[in-house]
Amino acid sequence: MKKVFLSMIALCGICAAYAGDSTLTVTKRYINLPVAQEAERNRMTFHIDGEVERTFVIRLSDTPDYWVFCDMSAYRGATLRIAFDGKAAGLAKIYQDDRIAGADSLYREAARPQFHFTSRRGWNNDPNGLLFHDGEYHLFYQHNPYEREWENMHWGHAVSRDLVRWQELPPALYPDAIGTMFSGSAVVDDENTAGFNRGDTPAIVAVYTAASPERQVQCIAYSTDRGRTWTKYAGNPVVDSKAAWNSQDTRDPKVFRHAPTRRWVMVLNERDGHSIYTSANLREWRFESHVTGFWECPDLFELPVDGDTANTRWVMYGASGAYMIGRFDGRQFIPEGGKYYYTTGALYAAQTFAGIPAADGRRIQIGWGRIAHGPMPFNGMMLLPTELTLRTTKDGIRLFSNPVKEIDRLQGDSRTWTKLTAAQANRAMEAYRQSDCLRIKARIKLSHATDAGLRLHGQSILTYDMNFNTVNGVFYSPEEPTSMELSVDILIDKTSVEVFVDGGAYSYALQRELNSPNREGFRFWGNNPEIVSLEVYEMRTIWN
Ligand code: FRU
Repeated sequence: MKKVFLSMIALCGICAAYAGDSTLTVTKRYINLPVAQEAERNRMTFHIDGEVERTFVIRLSDTPDYWVFCDMSAYRGATLRIAFDGKAAGLAKIYQDDRIAGADSLYREAARPQFHFTSRRGWNNDPNGLLFHDGEYHLFYQHNPYEREWENMHWGHAVSRDLVRWQELPPALYPDAIGTMFSGSAVVDDENTAGFNRGDTPAIVAVYTAASPERQVQCIAYSTDRGRTWTKYAGNPVVDSKAAWNSQDTRDPKVFRHAPTRRWVMVLNERDGHSIYTSANLREWRFESHVTGFWECPDLFELPVDGDTANTRWVMYGASGAYMIGRFDGRQFIPEGGKYYYTTGALYAAQTFAGIPAADGRRIQIGWGRIAHGPMPFNGMMLLPTELTLRTTKDGIRLFSNPVKEIDRLQGDSRTWTKLTAAQANRAMEAYRQSDCLRIKARIKLSHATDAGLRLHGQSILTYDMNFNTVNGVFYSPEEPTSMELSVDILIDKTSVEVFVDGGAYSYALQRELNSPNREGFRFWGNNPEIVSLEVYEMRTIWN
């Protein structure tokens, strides 16, 4: 690997070790930057041909524990000046190359999820701008490209043709003079209401929060090349509601088209709940109403009940996934009933896709997996895409979540058993002791009091307690309360476990405990539970 080292000129003569500057001609695709978590964060600014191209804080170090990168392919041949206001020593290690540092082990690192999306380098949190357009699923996401912890919020970007295999592209939105790029959504403006379309090509319009220490305001940007390049609207911000709410917390716009009123609707988290704004053109917004009881990352969508399109309800949720069901007339959401959860654990800030064709008709969601990735050069992950449905239960209408059917395509070799004792099931599972990527579908039946479940290397991945009426400590009341049975669809990847209970009535996601010395593999336990059925699938990687 040929490295082109940069020349470094210390600017400050007296304290030569601090603040530096280096200049090069961009000849390669990537600039590779060395970072160490123990190094301080300091500001780095790229100047291209004399203009500021980007500015961010970075823990630059000449003794890196990992490397991050910037894709500079748009600037080949240009002069890049890198200014840094921290310890200059790390500057000398920066190099350009056509490969990112660590490319040889990319996607094969020890704790790299194999069938979940993670960013090549840096931090990710919330999914943003989920959109199906022109044959591609777009996954934008809260991203710090320069470190494995939260900072410098950008919109990262990845695309997929099947919701399963993702290709990471360069970041879509970079911090600017208004702020860093917080969460938001994206729509396709088929009718050119905003006036951003190019000829017959409709614009994708991203609606996002720009956050500064002073305020959080809502802005828009558009793309007419399938999300590859973006132009920020000159009239930003389009909503500035700090004064109206006397609050710094005004963020995470989720926008959708409301066909009956022929308006755009924005659901925006403000202070203590979700507000509704409407617009004819995505640029001018009018406040309509507010529902208290939600925090961050709103979503609002209509779903048929039990698949009956003549009988629909609207679902509103916040970042935790706690939701209300109700009616929506385009201006006001009126909840009916209580506030419920369908999921707990690692999932946060989930969002549903815009633009799913009517012929498909699914409401597809991706949530951020709050899963730490220890010493890896990346951190955070996306949980599996799931399909959300409303179903009538004994308690009323409830939200269900299940992995999308596309996930089935990752299933490799499988085996099936029925009517096993725990000891027999554990013998069957012996073959999978070393496996890191599995799907396990099981139905277990308690026969004696009081609880039973499944452990992996000593970690509880399922504990069903019929005495306390809990699954993994969380209240769960099965549809048939006397059945003593529970069915689970468990998806295990390198660092996560997702469990969908009783056809998606309840789900949870866990971080795997990777540092435990226990290597006992899978253990069904309990007082004489029956493993009524057991199916195990080996899951294939999405990264080959
Ligand atoms: C939720 C959140 C959002 C915000 C974003 C910032 O995880 O706090 O409310 O827009 O993360 O990264």
